[in-house]
Amino acid sequence: MKILMVCLGNICRSPLAEGILREKVKDLNVETDSAGTSAYHVDEAPDTRSIQIGRKHNINISDLRGRQFVVEDFDHFDLIYVMDQNNYHKVILMARNEEDKSKVRYILNEIEPKSNAEVPDPYYGGDNGFENVYKMLDAATDKIVEKIKNGQL
Ligand code: 4NP
Repeated sequence: MKILMVCLGNICRSPLAEGILREKVKDLNVETDSAGTSAYHVDEAPDTRSIQIGRKHNINISDLRGRQFVVEDFDHFDLIYVMDQNNYHKVILMARNEEDKSKVRYILNEIEPKSNAEVPDPYYGGDNGFENVYKMLDAATDKIVEKIKNGQL
């Protein structure tokens, strides 16, 4: 199973999602990665506020680096989890066929099915936004791991 997390900058939400999932699946045969729909922060480390919130919860994401989503990601990954509607539409626009499209899911639909709810972009907000994002991603990745273990993904 190969899972890609996607947001806009690949420095706040998706590296945190990747890091939390990476920790939870370390004894399972799951590959994790993350990417941004923009090229704003390519090769950059995650935002210090995401690193801090991860550290607070014993998740180290300081090794991760930003990269942009590419069409080949549809070939490599089984599932592509997006954080919000903007990411969803950008990724869907790059899909070449229905199979590509079927891999793309809103991450919060794992905990609120069919809601298409968004993980809010914390970039311009205060530190509280990062804790809020952490809680959402922790809950969603719990569900993802549960589904992997039950063979539902
Ligand atoms: P992310 O947050 O998509 O969660 O990584 C953002 C990071 C940077 C920008 C926007 C969102 N930016 O406009 O530079």
